[in-house]
Amino acid sequence: MPLTLETRDLTIRFGGHVAVNKVSCIFRPGELTAIVGPNGAGKTTYFSLISGQLRPTAGEVLLADENITRLTAPLRTRKGLGRAFQLTNLFPNLSVEENVRLAVQAASGVHYEMLRPWMKRRDLIERADAILDSIALGNRRAVAAAALSHGDQRKLEVALMMALEPKVFMFDEPTAGMSVDEVPVVLDLIARLKQDQSKIILLVEHKMDVVRSLADRIIVLHNGQLVADGRPGEVIASPIVQEAYLGIAPGKTAA
Ligand SMILES: Nc1ncnc2c1ncn2[C@@H]1O[C@H](COP(=O)(O)OP(=O)(O)OP(=O)(O)O)[C@@H](O)[C@H]1O
Ligand SMILES: [Mg+2]
Repeated sequence: MPLTLETRDLTIRFGGHVAVNKVSCIFRPGELTAIVGPNGAGKTTYFSLISGQLRPTAGEVLLADENITRLTAPLRTRKGLGRAFQLTNLFPNLSVEENVRLAVQAASGVHYEMLRPWMKRRDLIERADAILDSIALGNRRAVAAAALSHGDQRKLEVALMMALEPKVFMFDEPTAGMSVDEVPVVLDLIARLKQDQSKIILLVEHKMDVVRSLADRIIVLHNGQLVADGRPGEVIASPIVQEAYLGIAPGKTAA
């Protein structure tokens, strides 16, 4: 069964406002799709409908052709949907290393073993170390999660998502609030994830240079609707993006 993630006519209404309006889209492995659009366009809401934090008013979400629309968020995580969350899933008083090891352990299905405590599982420890190194958190391993800088906390969110080894990676403005030297670490990591052709990667990002360098495909949301979908060059050049998103008058082009 080929892994695809699909939304069919996905819709959510908040009172009179339709935040996501009949969005139909298929995402495939080996493809990084950037989701762009103005503030309030519905990008984060679309993510929440896919990952299960919100239930749609209408429409469906399918993973590998299975209808997961009615599954809870934790069940969707188990099926391979990974979304970085702002520190809701971690233990603030435990160290960075302990948090990542626990996530690795949870993903491996290993629970408490009387004779072989998980601390002795070399493979799990090595996997946690590899994740910490890949996101340049190795030198912060002993620090309590709660004591991290904002940028390091965001990196830890990504590390915890990686520990779960998802099939679908969802990044919502992953570098927001990061210092200039932290941004490349996260972007490099996403670029490396992309090389693993078996993963579906969704990236909400406002910075067009980042989108241009990472995306294989761009979809544009505007007032909750999917208004453009295609290769980065075409979508960025399209009038709808030039006007609606980049705020450029028709006839002129973006720098
Ligand atoms: N729980 C909610 N209840 C009511 N309205 C909501 C809720 N969540 C989002 N909205 C509204 O839905 C619309 C889409 O919001 P959303 O956060 O998805 O936009 P976004 O594209 O992620 O914007 P940004 O680029 O600023 O992050 C906005 O008008 C927002 O006010
Ligand atoms: Mg958002």
